[in-house]
Amino acid sequence: MGKGIFRTKSIESILKNSDENAHGGDGLKRVLTLKDLTFFGIAAILGAGSFSSLGGAVFNGGPGVILLFIITAIACAFTAYCYSEFASRIPVAGSAYTYAYASFGELFAWVIGWALIMEYSIGNIYVAYSWSDYFTSLASKCGINIPTFLSTSYMEAKHSFEAGTTKGDSYHAWINAPTIAGLKFIVDLPAFIINILITYLVFKGVKESKNFSNVMVILKMIVVALVIFVGGYCVLNNGLTPNWVPTNDAGVTSFLPNGFSGVMMAVSGVFFAYIGFDAVSVLAEESKNPQRDLPKGMILSLVICTVVYILLTLVLTGAVDYRGFEGIGDPLAFIFEPQNLNLGWMQFLVAICAVVAMTSVLLVFQMGQPRIWMSMSRDGLLPNAFQKIHPKYKTPSFATLVTGLVVGIPILFTDKTFVLDFTSIATLFAFVLVCGGVLLIPKRAKETGKFNIPFINARFIYPALIAFGIAFTIWQFPNYFSNLTKFTLHPNTQADATLSFGSDKLADFRAENTIGNSEKLYLSKIFKNKPEAETVKNIVANNALINNAIHQQAYLINNQAIIKNNTDSFFAYTPNQINISTILDTLKLNKTVNTLAIIKALDAVNDSALIAKLYKQDTLNKAFTINQFNTDKSIGISTYQNAINKAFEHNKINDLKKSIASKLETQKIFNISSIIFWLTCIGLSILCLFKNWSLIPILGLTSCLYLLTGMSMNNWLWFLGWLGLGLIVYFLFGYKNSKLAK
Ligand code: ALA
Repeated sequence: MGKGIFRTKSIESILKNSDENAHGGDGLKRVLTLKDLTFFGIAAILGAGSFSSLGGAVFNGGPGVILLFIITAIACAFTAYCYSEFASRIPVAGSAYTYAYASFGELFAWVIGWALIMEYSIGNIYVAYSWSDYFTSLASKCGINIPTFLSTSYMEAKHSFEAGTTKGDSYHAWINAPTIAGLKFIVDLPAFIINILITYLVFKGVKESKNFSNVMVILKMIVVALVIFVGGYCVLNNGLTPNWVPTNDAGVTSFLPNGFSGVMMAVSGVFFAYIGFDAVSVLAEESKNPQRDLPKGMILSLVICTVVYILLTLVLTGAVDYRGFEGIGDPLAFIFEPQNLNLGWMQFLVAICAVVAMTSVLLVFQMGQPRIWMSMSRDGLLPNAFQKIHPKYKTPSFATLVTGLVVGIPILFTDKTFVLDFTSIATLFAFVLVCGGVLLIPKRAKETGKFNIPFINARFIYPALIAFGIAFTIWQFPNYFSNLTKFTLHPNTQADATLSFGSDKLADFRAENTIGNSEKLYLSKIFKNKPEAETVKNIVANNALINNAIHQQAYLINNQAIIKNNTDSFFAYTPNQINISTILDTLKLNKTVNTLAIIKALDAVNDSALIAKLYKQDTLNKAFTINQFNTDKSIGISTYQNAINKAFEHNKINDLKKSIASKLETQKIFNISSIIFWLTCIGLSILCLFKNWSLIPILGLTSCLYLLTGMSMNNWLWFLGWLGLGLIVYFLFGYKNSKLAK
């Protein structure tokens, strides 16, 4: 069996197989030129990543996220070279799947094909959701208001409600949705419908799709250029360039306000923005001159998009402080809103363009998936129906319909964050295997007119680069390697870690926390003595103080010994002493802390109707006096206030525990994956000394492995689960039915 699962297809037989199909009369039409392929590349790359996930990436990494764009671009460029090498040798549909079949063998090919479902189909779910976001807001600008429960995904609404949100479309969707058989009826209808339309278009044929796609790419390039020029002009003209080196909440002024770890938190979003250049390779059988045009088209589209991303990030982070992008799903339109650059016409134009851009991404991926399945079916790994070509439209009709279902059904029960992470990890995994595959295929003599990956012998260069990388890291970050073996929190997050350890760590916490003297003075007042009205007014006057106060407050809430003396008095005291709406406004303005629970608590103090609403909606934690409220409606306001304070304590404690646990988990996973990464680099360096490996693929492999270190435990678990399912399917069907088995 061991030999069976590693059986490989020879490149000759792959080419022969494809030729037979092409000449049998049922083949795909060869109509695509270099321009078309480049356009396809851009159509696939520029989409939800730039129009939607860029907001979250910028919020996490600040202007420094540009570094991640550059690192990712380098990783993708190396990978594109590897794809090109494969694509020029094996110019048939199937992408990384076919390449793996020729290099690693059948099982790996299957695994890649299975992982590519994540890239093509699940990735399209994210794009469809983003498409729906922009479409809904565009419709409302035209006076058509689609109800939120018909334009939000069920899980997104549920998660945001459970997180205690009381604002935004997802929350309103949950509150306003009709209930059917005890279930909230919430569905992202625009996302669902666009998927049906795209499936129809792809079913009808590549020529129509090609023309449609070319027009859309031109349109979106024009508008992206406008955003860059108009936005860039405003940034320079309005003196906004200091936003490129913002001062973070700890008072540090830096291009990397959240450090490099903040930048790495954006890996999924940034990488997603680059996915797509590889989609060009699945059009091999529809391309007029695949050997020459596929590699060129891929690299050209990648270069163009990289330049666009860097410029877009500069414009975005210049136009608005990076913190302003929290929860923003339409960042390109957002920078032109009245409170930012205030250009209404640009906002409108960007919304239209986003809808167009994302339609073209949907189209490319929806075309890619059936073609991969078609290849897998030709090899016997999937049922014959997947290679059926429509007699009239010449498209893989059955596989196209199944793709429509695989994208459409999950639209009903997943959400954006989940599909983004899932897609990115699976695609990176596929890229790692493609780069590794190039190292394994036999070398060949250079042929003029065909793409040849430039050969640079890695024998000494790669080990030298790794040695340099290690030496540089030790020089710049002396504790980096020793910290990798410590499975505790990084010193910067130590402050948060101490939260879970008890009151004796308070001193450590204060020492670690980078607060200024005035804050320390204030904190010592507020926590050692009863707060005075004057002090509270000071908080209102100073956002930074509020921040620290809340941070400390949260600390103390976790600390049951101190809470009795301070927290209750703080909440009981403030409403009577100062204008509560001033505090609320200040808190609401301050987006850098999770102030929601506090706002709720304070809101509720003055508004018994709101309290009733909060109870009814079960927004606050169930752990306290709901029963009391239900049984005795005559209870005085102070009882509710206390109850809410308790709920706040309870939620805050849980939030803190969760946040610490998740920080620890992130740290652990980062440490484990970094250790594996460095050991792999050292292992590869040693192998390089004995093999004449080519430098480009090995650098592609290394950079993709590095990006994988940014993935969370959750991502890994879901991904491994998916692979496990794939293996079951393989052994039940593909292993027996494979052409190589016969
Ligand atoms: N790169 C593609 C996008 O951003 C997947 O939509």
